Amino acid sequence: MEDVLGQVIGVLKARRLKGERRAWLSPEARAALAASVAPAPRPRPEAAVAVSAPVRPVPPPELDRPAAAPARSPAVETPVPLAPAPAVSLPSLDLSGRSLEEVRAAVAACSRCDLCRAGRRQTVFSDGDPHAELMFIGEGPGADEDAQGIPFVGAAGQLLTKMIEGMQFRRQEVYICNIVKCRPPNNRQPTHEEGEACLPYLRRQIELVKPRCIVLLGSTALWHLLRAKGITKTHGQWQKFNDIPVMPTYHPSFLLRVPERKRECWNDLQQVMKVFGKSPKPPAVPAAAAAP
Ligand code: URA
Ligand code: SF4
Repeated sequence: MEDVLGQVIGVLKARRLKGERRAWLSPEARAALAASVAPAPRPRPEAAVAVSAPVRPVPPPELDRPAAAPARSPAVETPVPLAPAPAVSLPSLDLSGRSLEEVRAAVAACSRCDLCRAGRRQTVFSDGDPHAELMFIGEGPGADEDAQGIPFVGAAGQLLTKMIEGMQFRRQEVYICNIVKCRPPNNRQPTHEEGEACLPYLRRQIELVKPRCIVLLGSTALWHLLRAKGITKTHGQWQKFNDIPVMPTYHPSFLLRVPERKRECWNDLQQVMKVFGKSPKPPAVPAAAAAP
């Protein structure tokens, strides 16, 4: 299926270059495209992805620099955005020169999207070390996060904490945040517009924290930060955001529902560990991967 998809994309790109705006597709090509862009179900999108592509790990960056230095680029396979992003017209938001605390305050006063009026109790900005070398980006606050004002403190958060500890980090050592800072009603997936509205805050967070490596949790984070679709295909493959190596993997909420995918997630996380010169002590399997 992936081969067909690659060919279809190649042909479509060539035709677009020639100025063609419409193309006839064979049923096989249409099936490949449909499988790759199939919309995910709510509240967490990963579960619906029908096709499971083999993980194609890319060698991680070598640890051949001082710890504080920016990470050397790993071999990166940037996914092709398979669907154009709908245009969103929003007032621009210039956060340059703002500190993390100033950005946090701007978020607390924000009304750039409807989520500020959708029943959120408070904004949820971040948790962890503002100087962290490792950053995790999720989707958006749920009920527990909305109540406490801290990301990833509910059931998914507990699993994320186990994942972090399995990677031989302490939760306080990493930086954790989300695509949207306000809880979507009923834990639904944030809309494209909501994610777009909130993105300037996340961009500034990344700029200020300057992590050496980012882990994207789930397809919402993958879409909004990298404009790529399909966590099932992309997880485990190094990507890049502004020269920062990015590892997409499954969202912990998805792993709670589909625990058999924990092993794949653990493989992804081990690639990140290598960036930091860490390796799991064999034959230990971290609680995150082993827990039912
Ligand atoms: N899921 C997320 O994506 N973020 C949180 O903060 C909690 C659950
Ligand atoms: Fe503002 Fe983001 Fe909250 Fe929307 S989700 S109101 S953009 S802080």
